[in-house]
Amino acid sequence: MITRRKAPAGLVGAAMLATAPRFAAQNAAVRKLPPARIEGGKALMEALTLCRSIREYSDRPVPEQVLSDLLWAAFGVNRPSGDRTAPYWRHIVVIDVYAAMAVGVWLCEPKCHALLAHLPADIRAQTGLQDFVGRAPLNLVYVAHGERMPDISPAERRHSASVDTGFIGQNVHLFCASAGLATVFRGAVDYKKLDRTMQLDQINLSPSRRS
Ligand SMILES: Cc1cc2nc3c(=O)[nH]c(=O)nc-3n(C[C@H](O)[C@H](O)[C@H](O)COP(=O)(O)O)c2cc1C
Repeated sequence: MITRRKAPAGLVGAAMLATAPRFAAQNAAVRKLPPARIEGGKALMEALTLCRSIREYSDRPVPEQVLSDLLWAAFGVNRPSGDRTAPYWRHIVVIDVYAAMAVGVWLCEPKCHALLAHLPADIRAQTGLQDFVGRAPLNLVYVAHGERMPDISPAERRHSASVDTGFIGQNVHLFCASAGLATVFRGAVDYKKLDRTMQLDQINLSPSRRS
């Protein structure tokens, strides 16, 4: 989790066995994902028995459909109200999920279930301090927007953003267990370097995003 301005720094990423989708037009600014498959998968108790951290990754391609399913499970919209698969602080979306892949960095946009182009660079190796990070086909970076939490202290921001991120990370763990993918939730990251690499200071800091 990278925290943005007025919030304390911290970062957690998640790497899993999922390859960069083979986008037809890799430079497209908006890449609509296919609808997530919201039925099937392993039963919850079976998935829980399979939950564990894995630090070895294949570069085996995973269909774009799996990326769609994964991102929906992580923090997708699951109700007509626009609310999400994970609970979140004060009904304000503080966490944005970025997908770092060989084809670049994409911002996940749950409202239209799409990926928005963020950086046309392979920054996977910068998303963590461990060797496997640069080879894992997909790294999720959770970016917390402190500016969306204006009326609480930095410590409270860190706390609530970390809780929100933990829920998303657990959804990722459960999905990966269910889908037979490897994953590990990570905090060993050079936060400042990744913040610079992702050029997060260039993004438009929007006001609070409510569902
Ligand atoms: C907040 C947090 C940060 C973590 N950071 C890392 C990390 O940077 N690198 C890593 O390999 N594992 C990391 N882990 C995974 C833990 O090491 C792992 O969950 C723990 O050893 C238990 O193993 P299990 O998940 O297989 O049950 C992190 C877990 C959490 C909850």
